[in-house]
Amino acid sequence: MRTPIIAGNWKLNKTISEAVDLVSQLRLLVEGTNEVEVIVAPTFTALSAVSKTLEGSSISIAAQDLYWEEKGAFTGEVSASLIVDSGCSHVIIGHSERRQYFGETNQSVNWKAKSALNAGLIPIICVGEMLEDREVGKTEQVVKDHLVNGIANLTEEQILNSVVAYEPVWAIGTGKTATPDQAQEVHALIRSVLADTYSSANVADRIRIQYGGSVTPASAAALLSQPDVDGALVGGASLEAESFADIVKAAQQ
Ligand code: PGA
Repeated sequence: MRTPIIAGNWKLNKTISEAVDLVSQLRLLVEGTNEVEVIVAPTFTALSAVSKTLEGSSISIAAQDLYWEEKGAFTGEVSASLIVDSGCSHVIIGHSERRQYFGETNQSVNWKAKSALNAGLIPIICVGEMLEDREVGKTEQVVKDHLVNGIANLTEEQILNSVVAYEPVWAIGTGKTATPDQAQEVHALIRSVLADTYSSANVADRIRIQYGGSVTPASAAALLSQPDVDGALVGGASLEAESFADIVKAAQQ
């Protein structure tokens, strides 16, 4: 049995006080939801305030990115150990917006994943095709490429401490959610690639795969009922406590 994992990716939204308000409300709404792992991913500037607000709560905190070097002359970057220091247990890596606007590559995803794992952070490794890839039948090829290269040389222990997020780029922020069947098809592909890569029994079965792309309280239950969909990475609907809490509740059923 894989524990469902619901993460809210706030992207470039919320001041520190707005972030504190949001998690204060969220805490009241989802406290005691033991069967679901709940994560919020605020901006870097709000991490430590959110972490203080969530002290003693079961909600975990993720950063939205990291840099793989430990320290030094890397102006503007934030390392895995600084992210741990600000109260995070998770970090999102390889989000399509980073690939699209900030030059993220499979190679940098792989370096970031290793650096996160070495610091004790759980990476949420994002993969997913663009609309033009899907239209020319390249979904499988692109997703495999992101996954195989992103997790290259991770040990079994490391992959078991990682989460994969399938996020079709055409579904992100567009209101066009993948159908449950479309999501399941790619999630099953991801699990089969993991099974080919990690031959020990059960490794692929234990790794959680989130779906992301316009998940709402209305679409969550059907997506999460698919056998290989183990959670959601939620953007827009995570910016409001009630809608995010409703998605968490959908994961409980
Ligand atoms: P969305 O974003 O839910 O707003 O589509 C999802 C994501 O980018 O993680």
